[in-house]
Amino acid sequence: QKTTPNVSSTLYILFLILSHSLISSMAHQHEFQTGLAGGEVTLNCTGILPDSKLPRDTVVHWKYYDTPLWYMEKGRSWKTFNADRFVIKMQYKQLWVRNLKLSDAGIYTCEYGTHKVRTSLHIFKLMISLDGHFLQNEVPELILMQNSSSPLLDLRITLFDSNNNTVMPELQNKSRQKYIMNLKKLEAVDSGTWVCQVHSDSPLIDQNIPFAVKVLGFQNPNLERKYATVDSSVILSWHLNTQKIKWKEGFTGQLNWKQQESANPHELLDFNVTAQGQLHETKKSSNFLFEIPERKPESTIEVKLPKVHFNHSGQYQCQLEYQGRHAQSKIELVVMKVSAKPVGPLSRGANMTLTCQVSGPLQPNAYLRWERVNGTKMDIKNSKHNEVKLEVNISVAGLWSCHLIEDSDRKISLHYHVEEAAVWTNYVIIGASVGGSLLVFALGCLCIISNISWQRRRQRAKRMAQARQHLLENKTCQCQQ
Ligand SMILES: *[C@@H]1O[C@H](CO)[C@@H](O)[C@H](O)[C@H]1NC(C)=O
Ligand SMILES: *[C@@H]1O[C@H](CO)[C@@H](O)[C@H](O)[C@H]1NC(C)=O
Ligand SMILES: *[C@@H]1O[C@H](CO)[C@@H](O)[C@H](O)[C@H]1NC(C)=O
Ligand SMILES: *[C@@H]1O[C@H](CO)[C@@H](O)[C@H](O)[C@H]1NC(C)=O
Ligand SMILES: *[C@@H]1O[C@H](CO)[C@@H](O)[C@H](O)[C@H]1NC(C)=O
Ligand SMILES: *[C@@H]1O[C@H](CO)[C@@H](O)[C@H](O)[C@H]1NC(C)=O
Ligand SMILES: *[C@@H]1O[C@H](CO)[C@@H](O)[C@H](O)[C@H]1NC(C)=O
Ligand SMILES: *[C@@H]1O[C@H](CO)[C@@H](O)[C@H](O)[C@H]1NC(C)=O
Ligand SMILES: *[C@@H]1O[C@H](CO)[C@@H](O)[C@H](O)[C@H]1NC(C)=O
Repeated sequence: QKTTPNVSSTLYILFLILSHSLISSMAHQHEFQTGLAGGEVTLNCTGILPDSKLPRDTVVHWKYYDTPLWYMEKGRSWKTFNADRFVIKMQYKQLWVRNLKLSDAGIYTCEYGTHKVRTSLHIFKLMISLDGHFLQNEVPELILMQNSSSPLLDLRITLFDSNNNTVMPELQNKSRQKYIMNLKKLEAVDSGTWVCQVHSDSPLIDQNIPFAVKVLGFQNPNLERKYATVDSSVILSWHLNTQKIKWKEGFTGQLNWKQQESANPHELLDFNVTAQGQLHETKKSSNFLFEIPERKPESTIEVKLPKVHFNHSGQYQCQLEYQGRHAQSKIELVVMKVSAKPVGPLSRGANMTLTCQVSGPLQPNAYLRWERVNGTKMDIKNSKHNEVKLEVNISVAGLWSCHLIEDSDRKISLHYHVEEAAVWTNYVIIGASVGGSLLVFALGCLCIISNISWQRRRQRAKRMAQARQHLLENKTCQCQQ
């Protein structure tokens, strides 16, 4: 009886050794994998022989936690979990999970023989507000969710826009399960594929999650300034980016005009664009003279003012409407006109007032300038800050120009030709009536033209007398120069 405990303890130790070696021969492997909601993932049964070399008596099991998914014995297999999202790839007994859901996160185990491969599946889900369809100036909201069998990771999130520039999202609300971020105010050029980069150090995760952003808007800037001279024709265009971003939804819009910020808008036309991208326009205004050009680039809203009036100036606003949301782009039309008082030829010694006027307030860096073409510095006059009207009193005929200058750029110019009153007729009359003084006048005229100084004239006085006859013959053409 004394020996019994010894035997049993020996057996017990033997059992311990045996079971220990049994456990250690049962290879345990731990894997970690990430998946994306909506995507798919293939989980390996690491180390398993290919189907053709697998001994027929091998038993293979796939489980999700304790729930059996698939079972194989003696070359026959059963799917024990009723979900067509789970498929076994027979060659290496991989588990292929399609159309992943957040709730698919957890522990998947593949057991074959004495092997046990345990894979922890971590799932991310990225959601973007409004299904990724925005109008310019809207701010998308991005939500990243994660689910896992282990405690949730503290993630570092970086965003790259469609031009691969880093965007710092404004983290709105953060819990480990759900990161809510506001992106930035979108512009039409932000359309494209963005990337949300998810990083964690332990376990190491570097997951790039691409997502599509479409921004419907204008290729014009938000506010454009267009200059026109009175009576010219001008075309105002808004270029939609529908084709560029392959926008496949219908939307509507309208074009309004208002002379002043405070004035009531006046509807010029409305339009709609079908999901196929066809644009239909309807003219709304009959008392405003404008045309819709027949030939124009696709996806372009355009109006032509064939003869611009001074009072056609103001803001032309093109507005889009999509699902009750709006985006707009404005063109400010600035019209310039010039006038003279009194009109008509300028006679010697008289003066006239030229007026140049623009329809709207000028930019802080802009001013008006009157100048005479080929004139002197004395013939230049600039407007003062904020003046929309510039008057100049002139006493010299010629071609006068008014410029609107912005940042030393001539934005627009308008000419006014001041004719000289026909003084020659008077001279002829004087010449004819005073007789002998005709020669004196002819000499003076020559001096002005050929710039001969008084001194040189004296030296030449003798020769002059001889030249007298010749001069008389040529006086007409010289004085008319
Ligand atoms: C799964 O196994 C295949 C083939 O052995 C290998 O190429 C792949 O990297 C494995 N995948 C993972 C996630 O370990
Ligand atoms: C996370 O996964 C578990 C299973 O691992 C599931 O029970 C739970 O519902 C999932 N959470 C969410 C938010 O889907
Ligand atoms: C985007 O930029 C990151 C660095 O900021 C770089 O690692 C990555 O390769 C770039 N991707 C593309 C598609 O250019
Ligand atoms: C953040 O989210 C949690 C739950 O998701 C909510 O209870 C909380 O009110 C939110 N906080 C803010 C500031 O939105
Ligand atoms: C689009 O405009 C055309 C022409 O004005 C009109 O016949 C059509 O009904 C409009 N379609 C929609 C969806 O508004
Ligand atoms: C603008 O002024 C012209 C006269 O200069 C007038 O005939 C026209 O009706 C005006 N147009 C508008 C839109 O007020
Ligand atoms: C313009 O002429 C008027 C008279 O015709 C005169 O009173 C005025 O001073 C003149 N102005 C200039 C700037 O020469
Ligand atoms: C100004 O001068 C240029 C050459 O100097 C000449 O070609 C042009 O016709 C002149 N213009 C006027 C309006 O006098
Ligand atoms: C131009 O002359 C008129 C008188 O002819 C005078 O009333 C006006 O102030 C003058 N303007 C300028 C800018 O000199």
